[in-house]
Amino acid sequence: MRNSFRFFFSVTAALLFLGVSAVQALGAMAPAVDDVTRGALLYDKWYAALGQPAPAGDMPLWSAQTTNTRSGPETWRCVECHGWDYKGKDGAYGSGSHYTGFPGVFGTQADVLAVLEGKTNPAHDFSAYLDETSRKQLAAFLREGLIDDSQYIDTVTLKTKGGDPANGQALYDAHCATCHGADGAKIIFRTEGINETLGAVANRDPYRFLHRTRFGVAGTQMPIGRELGWTPKDGVDVLAYVQTLPTGNEPQQPGNVGEGSGASPQVGGPPAGVAGGILTGILAFLGTFGVSAFFLFGLVVLGFLVVWALRKRN
Ligand code: HEC
Ligand code: HEC
Repeated sequence: MRNSFRFFFSVTAALLFLGVSAVQALGAMAPAVDDVTRGALLYDKWYAALGQPAPAGDMPLWSAQTTNTRSGPETWRCVECHGWDYKGKDGAYGSGSHYTGFPGVFGTQADVLAVLEGKTNPAHDFSAYLDETSRKQLAAFLREGLIDDSQYIDTVTLKTKGGDPANGQALYDAHCATCHGADGAKIIFRTEGINETLGAVANRDPYRFLHRTRFGVAGTQMPIGRELGWTPKDGVDVLAYVQTLPTGNEPQQPGNVGEGSGASPQVGGPPAGVAGGILTGILAFLGTFGVSAFFLFGLVVLGFLVVWALRKRN
C-alpha cells in the first residue's frame, strides 16, 4: 500500500509539473504585442480584447444621439463612435447608419488618459472597465498608431489611390492566403446578418480592412502588418489586391461605408459553418484545451488519491 501511494503521488506531481511547463511554453511562444497594437485591439472592441463581457445596456453618451440605432455592446466600442478612420463625423461615419455626430480622435490634442477617466466628461468614464494599463495602451495607440488613410482611399469610390495590386498579391499570397484562401472566401465573415468574403469587406469598408490588417482582430492568431514590418503603403497594396477578389452574391449596401462595423470575431464559433473558419478556431484553441486536459487529469487523480487515503484511515 505504501508503494502504491508513493506511485500515485509521483504520477500526480509529474502531471501537474507537465501542465505548468506546458502553460509556460505556450506563454513564451505567444508573440509579444506592443502597446500600440494592444491599444488598436482595444479601440476595435475592448471587451473582446480583454476577454470580458460587454457592460450591460448602452454606453451613457449613446443617448446624446438618435441617428445610429444600434444598441447594447456595440455602443461601448470606441470605433462605433469615433470610426475606423478615427475621424468620427468628419470621416466615413459622417453619413449612413453609423452617423452619430460624435467627434473624431485623429490628431486629438486632448489628454486621452483624462478623457478615459471621465475627467473631461463623466459620461466618458471608462475607468470601471479599462484598467490603467489598457488606458495607457489606448493613449499610445491614439498618439502613435493612427494613420490618415484619406491619403490612400478615394472617399467616393472607396478604391485605393495609387495602390499596387501586384505587390499586394505577392504579400497576400505569402501571408494571408493560407487562412483566407487565394480568393478570400475561405473564411466567411458574419457581419450584422450578412455573410461576407474578405473581398466584400475590403470593398465595403476599406478603413476597417486597413485597421484590422495592420493590427489584427482580438482572439485570432492572424499575422499582422505591424509585426510583418509592413509599411502603411504595403497594407494599402494588399487592400488594392483584395478589392479585386470575389465579393460573393450577398446583398450589398452601396454608399453605406461603415455598414457592419459590428462583426464579432467568433473564432471557431457558429458563423456560417464554414469549414475553414472552424478549423482555424479548433487549431487556435487546441493548445489551450490540451493544457486544461492536463490539469483536469491531474486533479482527477488527486481526487481519487484523497478519497483513497480517507477511506484507508477509516
Ligand atoms: C458612445 C460613444 C463613444 C464611445 C463608445 C467612446 N467615445 Fe470617445 N468621445 C465621445 C464623445 C461624444 C466625445 C466628445 C467629448 C465628450 O463629450 O466627452 C468623445 C471624446 C473623446 C476624446 C477626446 C477627443 C478630443 O479631441 O477632444 C478621446 C481621446 C476619446 N473620446 C477616446 C475614446 C476612446 C479611446 C474610446 C474607447 C475606449 C472612446 N472614446 C469611446 C463618444 C464616445
Ligand atoms: C492564421 C489564420 C489567418 C491568417 C494567416 C490571416 N488571417 Fe485574417 N483573419 C483570420 C480570422 C480567424 C479572422 C476573424 C474571423 C471572423 O471574424 O469570423 C480574420 C479576420 C480578418 C479581417 C477582418 C475582416 C472583418 O470582417 O473585419 C481582415 C481584414 C483580415 N483578416 C485580413 C488578413 C490579411 C490581410 C492577412 C495577411 C496578412 C490575414 N488576414 C491573415 C485568420 C487569419
